[in-house]
Amino acid sequence: MPQFAERIIEWQRRAGRHDLPWQRGRDAYRIWLSEIMLQQTQVAAVVPYFERFAARFPDVASLARAAEDAVLQMWSGLGYYARARNLHRAARLIMERHGGRFPHRFEDIAALPGVGRSTAGAIAVFAFGQRHPILDGNVKRVFARYFGIDGYPGEAAVARQLWARAQAALPQANVDAYIQGLMDLGATVCTRARPRCADCPLAPECVAHREARVDSVPAPRPRRVLPQRAVRMLVLRRAPEVLLERRPASGVWGALWCFPELAEALDADETAWERFGARIGRWRMLPPVNHAFTHFRLEIRALLGDVTTVEPRAQSPGFVWLSVDRALGAAIPSPVRAILRRIAESASAGEQLR
Ligand code: ADE
Repeated sequence: MPQFAERIIEWQRRAGRHDLPWQRGRDAYRIWLSEIMLQQTQVAAVVPYFERFAARFPDVASLARAAEDAVLQMWSGLGYYARARNLHRAARLIMERHGGRFPHRFEDIAALPGVGRSTAGAIAVFAFGQRHPILDGNVKRVFARYFGIDGYPGEAAVARQLWARAQAALPQANVDAYIQGLMDLGATVCTRARPRCADCPLAPECVAHREARVDSVPAPRPRRVLPQRAVRMLVLRRAPEVLLERRPASGVWGALWCFPELAEALDADETAWERFGARIGRWRMLPPVNHAFTHFRLEIRALLGDVTTVEPRAQSPGFVWLSVDRALGAAIPSPVRAILRRIAESASAGEQLR
């Protein structure tokens, strides 16, 4: 399939991305970090996080030495925190198993936590100039359309066909420009909605384009209605501070700081008193915040309670009183950030909540 690759390489040189912060040099650590951040997040959102993270943890050793909380804090707001925890575990593994040197063998790269076949391919290509295919979500779409492959790419049988095409399409040389071009094309031209086929170097031979099927290829994920869950959270405020609680290390938002949850059957006043030794003047309901996880949707109903008195025993481990400003800089999930912002805005607007 030489023409396919040639067209992409030529297009990449002309119209692809060349000045992303991880493209300077071939530092395997920076390339790995960028590929992990880019797994679920778009380039524009990743760039500032990448710069900050790489400045704070410039190499594998500094990342491996860091406390998990510091790593999560630098990740705070990017979402999918398992990526940060895996990155941290992988850095420690690289210190132990590879003497601190980022592994060169594809199998060793793919064995790192959080690195799948496609990410391992991208790292091997960009950092070490090796010859491997990749197949992230955007690139699956390019292949599915070009070859007219029906079915949902998340299905094993469809993914197998796509990998076979990806392997066969690899050029002998300029693999890095080719892989970067595939990614850029998928992200900027061959988009899911309203692809810009007029600007696409592959359009002349693209099966989906020829058959006017770009809207239906690739097939979308079979529709499942995501379960809807609701949770109540207590925002205990002793102005300017609020109470945060560290979540258990495993499970949703593992090890992040969050407002305490209010269990289904329990009363807010009783919980504030029994768990935190806090008496509350009055409660106000904040507008609900919705958050979509991969497997369910969550509605968060936050109750804001201004503390009138608090017992010293409220200073137990796993809890912390932080000013809203400092809380915004901690390792917190996005809905907690949204609630904190709302509180900060209403405080400066003279308490017009609701
Ligand atoms: N998506 C995943 N990896 C990428 C990269 N290196 N450049 C642009 N988009 C990407």
